[in-house]
Amino acid sequence: MKIGIVGGTGGIGEGMALRLAPYHEVIIGSRDVEKACSVSECTMAFLDEQDKVGRCIGMCNQDAVDEGDIVILAIPYRFVESTLHELTGFEDKIVISPVNPIEKSDAFYYAPPAEGSAAQLIARLLPPRAKVVTAFNNIAANRWKDPADELDYSVAVCGDDDDAKAEVMQLINTISKLCAFDAGPLRMASIVESITPLLLNLARFNQMKDVGIRFV
Ligand SMILES: NC(=O)c1ccc[n+]([C@@H]2O[C@H](COP(=O)([O-])OP(=O)(O)OC[C@H]3O[C@@H](n4cnc5c(N)ncnc54)[C@H](OP(=O)(O)O)[C@@H]3O)[C@@H](O)[C@H]2O)c1
Repeated sequence: MKIGIVGGTGGIGEGMALRLAPYHEVIIGSRDVEKACSVSECTMAFLDEQDKVGRCIGMCNQDAVDEGDIVILAIPYRFVESTLHELTGFEDKIVISPVNPIEKSDAFYYAPPAEGSAAQLIARLLPPRAKVVTAFNNIAANRWKDPADELDYSVAVCGDDDDAKAEVMQLINTISKLCAFDAGPLRMASIVESITPLLLNLARFNQMKDVGIRFV
């Protein structure tokens, strides 16, 4: 499977590329092709050090969309609208949103758009045939970075296209010890996204690191 990561040079994108490249063809997207190539070279070098074989290349964000069967939008919430206005070709693609609209004052809080959630905003901005699915919203970027570090988390998945959701859940279940759970239609995405400021506040006020969730 080909997985394009828009903003694949960031904390989440780079870590996901490391985890996915041994099993899939990963296209790290960026606004800057040189930056994307440099991150993909680092990813390949890191895997090589671990005697793993991977497939990862760097391209511009538009090529990551065009090439990917699945496209992950690994960009900060505040740049979602401007980025999606510049990109085309999402028709019939599965689009994964790990995006959380979070703001910070004396604590982290959920600050969703009028649509109800970042995922619903993304669905509105994309063509109707794009299949938007939320996933990976509640896993800290730090935890993705070392493939030797087991990811023993649950991943809540929302989406309106059952086949797309099933495909994303299958993908999730191949990564480390992640376990996917169906969290309902896309209009439930706000519940999943809003867990993240809770996790950040728990970490901050209890001197914890990279707090995650597991449903048992
Ligand atoms: N960080 C976490 O622990 C975490 C956990 C769960 C979910 N998330 C979600 O995952 C998403 C990515 O988080 P992140 O921490 O990986 O973000 P990030 O590192 O801050 O940024 C990701 C990438 O976004 C691109 N970017 C920066 N400014 C931009 C702009 N003005 N326009 C378009 N693209 C821009 C950059 O890529 P280029 O410069 O290469 O274009 C950057 O590498 C966010 O929506 C976040 O809510 C994050």
